[in-house]
Amino acid sequence: MITLALSKGRIFEETLPLLRAAGIEVLDDPDTSRKLILDTNQPQVRVLVVRATDVPTYVQYGGADLGITGRDTLIEHIAAWGGNAGAAGLYQPLDLGISRCRISVAVRADFDYAHAVRQGSRLRVATKYVAIARDFFATKGVHVDLIKLYGSMELAPLVGLSDAIVDLVSTGNTLRANRLVEVEHIMDISARLVVNQAALKLKQAPIRAIIDAFAGAIRA
Ligand code: PRP
Repeated sequence: MITLALSKGRIFEETLPLLRAAGIEVLDDPDTSRKLILDTNQPQVRVLVVRATDVPTYVQYGGADLGITGRDTLIEHIAAWGGNAGAAGLYQPLDLGISRCRISVAVRADFDYAHAVRQGSRLRVATKYVAIARDFFATKGVHVDLIKLYGSMELAPLVGLSDAIVDLVSTGNTLRANRLVEVEHIMDISARLVVNQAALKLKQAPIRAIIDAFAGAIRA
């Protein structure tokens, strides 16, 4: 049995064509079904529906052989292993190039970020991406107090909870709607395939076949 962990929404939708390239059709729709284990047209392949942030955990501990997750989620997950995917037992063979966005620093339009940085001010930064934010500001030499949030980061500067946020930006609509401006582009994000290293050894042929089919579909 080959088990693939996916999160609902954009990653799920954008993974379907890649699965099709590997000859795999998912038989249930996670938006209408409450099932968490989805069958496919291949009796030996199943799909788990998990929270996006849980995908690396399922793959690391062997609950799934493979998973698809954003670079952001992966970096935050492997931070506990010194930022080393291999140390977490994860192999990262492919950048799938799907679910593209970026991680940025944003502030209220009336906050002079460049001035605050020049002055060496200590910034309060709200984010779900604590490892990414810590690393970015440390490299930049900016002192920050990080405030961990789990969503709706854009709210924090509006109510004085923080000076800045570190968050995903795709269209920029959420920032505009909340009168925030992007002041730093930290990194580009896309979805990655992650594989359990032990599973890759034990089930090499079928997992390699999936990796190769995905790689072919990306190239095409
Ligand atoms: C993400 C992100 C931003 C928004 C950016 O949130 O946190 O809020 O999308 O997209 P945009 O630039 O196209 O407006 P998401 O809706 O995924 O929910 P989340 O708050 O749970 O992360």
